[in-house]
Amino acid sequence: MTDYEQTVVIRPSDECGDTESGLLFQKAAAALRGGELVAFPTETVYGLGANAFLDDAVAEIYRVKGRPQDNPLIVHLSALEDLHRVAVGVSGTALKLFQKFSPGPLTLILRRHPHVPSRVSAGRDTVAVRFPAHPLARKLISMAGVPVVAPSANLSGKPSPTRAWHVLADLEHKVPYIIDGGPCRVGLESTVLDLSGEQAAILRPGAVTAEMIEKELGVHVLGAGIPLKDSETPKAPGMKYRHYAPRAKVVILPVELTENAPFWEQMAGREGKIGLFLNSQLSSEIRSKLFQLQIVHPDLLIELFDHGAEGAAAGLFDFFRRMDEAGCSAVFVQSERESGEGAAYMNRLRKAASDETLPG
Ligand code: TXA
Ligand code: MG
Repeated sequence: MTDYEQTVVIRPSDECGDTESGLLFQKAAAALRGGELVAFPTETVYGLGANAFLDDAVAEIYRVKGRPQDNPLIVHLSALEDLHRVAVGVSGTALKLFQKFSPGPLTLILRRHPHVPSRVSAGRDTVAVRFPAHPLARKLISMAGVPVVAPSANLSGKPSPTRAWHVLADLEHKVPYIIDGGPCRVGLESTVLDLSGEQAAILRPGAVTAEMIEKELGVHVLGAGIPLKDSETPKAPGMKYRHYAPRAKVVILPVELTENAPFWEQMAGREGKIGLFLNSQLSSEIRSKLFQLQIVHPDLLIELFDHGAEGAAAGLFDFFRRMDEAGCSAVFVQSERESGEGAAYMNRLRKAASDETLPG
């Protein structure tokens, strides 16, 4: 199978005209259309794109990522007019939601058009569809002229990529082109909403929250709160796999840090490098506590995030990757409240942490 001598990283300039990067971008779009894989930025995470109508290209996605065959893919479109090419019997509710939240981080589960290879949906008669908002994603898809399947552009089991270098680290020589659009604004994967049942249900929480969907539809939306047992078949199969996790052990800290909590001892007693991911709104007591900790533990890497849950979400996967690069044995990550985007952030954090939560 293809291994590329070189993976070309394209950094598009403002006008993708006749500049070198503009021409490379056109080549990448043509390669995508022709059946090759191209990684590209979206507002959520980087995607690994393939022509959704070519069964071989879709198969190649599973191979390159090492993705389990039972985990279906999301079809990405650049224009609402193309929806009928991939889905049938689209309800008024679905259209209403797309009109409100697209382009943006919302994926809807619809009925699959027979022209879409069943491999896209891992044999299901449904298909997941989203309209990414990132201008480079939209441009690539419209230039390719075909619907594009795109899972997150990481190797299966690794955190989703939110910077071009994350993609390069996982997929160098495995794909011909990576389009570099800088850091992803949202930083967590799209909300996946299933409209096929009696009640709308969130299969994966994201930046379009249950509250936002409820407000638009005026009906209750089932949340994604209940974890599945191993024996159960989840509706979004992707959610059952270990995900988002760095090599370092992930420990969840509470929303409110207190001075006398046991985790300070735990951190101080850890061997080797450890990483800390904390909300920048720290009290002076906690600041001085951190200062003391740095004295006894010089290998401490502290990273502060701004803007609450939104900032935490935007930085989490990059933090995981950098702490792994730095050789951390453990990372301690602060919780955010579950409201709004906090729900998606906590969902990813719990998946990464294998249940280690420390009391405040
Ligand atoms: O933000 C995103 O959605 C990113 C960017 C690249 O667009 N893509 C992404 O794709 O996160 P992936 O493949 O990593 O996750 C797709 C999720 C999985 O949990 C999968 O099980 C679920 O969507 N899914 C896809 N098709 C489905 C279907 N027909 N029925 C139920 N769940 C589906
Ligand atoms: Mg993924």
